[in-house]
Amino acid sequence: MADPADQPSFELDIRPLFSQRDQEAMLIAFDLWDAEDVRDHADEILDQLEAGRMPCYGAWPDEKVAVFRRWVEADAPS
Ligand code: HEM
Repeated sequence: MADPADQPSFELDIRPLFSQRDQEAMLIAFDLWDAEDVRDHADEILDQLEAGRMPCYGAWPDEKVAVFRRWVEADAPS
């Protein structure tokens, strides 16, 4: 079992990964600043990030994708 203190939080760890440009561009599909929306689409979002397809202006570095992956693997906590 992972130490609960290591559990990532949406507000502290995930929301700040998404810029205002990201958030506004993707409102057509979901709100990247909303924990519930990101949780509902977490697997597809992770696929896009891992493939380097999103954000469209340049792939995230691996460390940043890893933060998002850890949050998904921790069951996308708030
Ligand atoms: C399920 C996941 C996602 C899907 C299916 C998706 C799909 C799309 C599509 C179809 C567009 C419009 C066409 C294009 O410009 O390529 C778009 C634009 C964009 N997406 Fe996503 N996207 C996803 C996740 C994300 C994420 C996680 C980010 C940020 C980290 C992001 C950032 C952007 C940006 C910045 C644009 C518009 C670029 C601009 O013109 O400023 N998207 N996305």
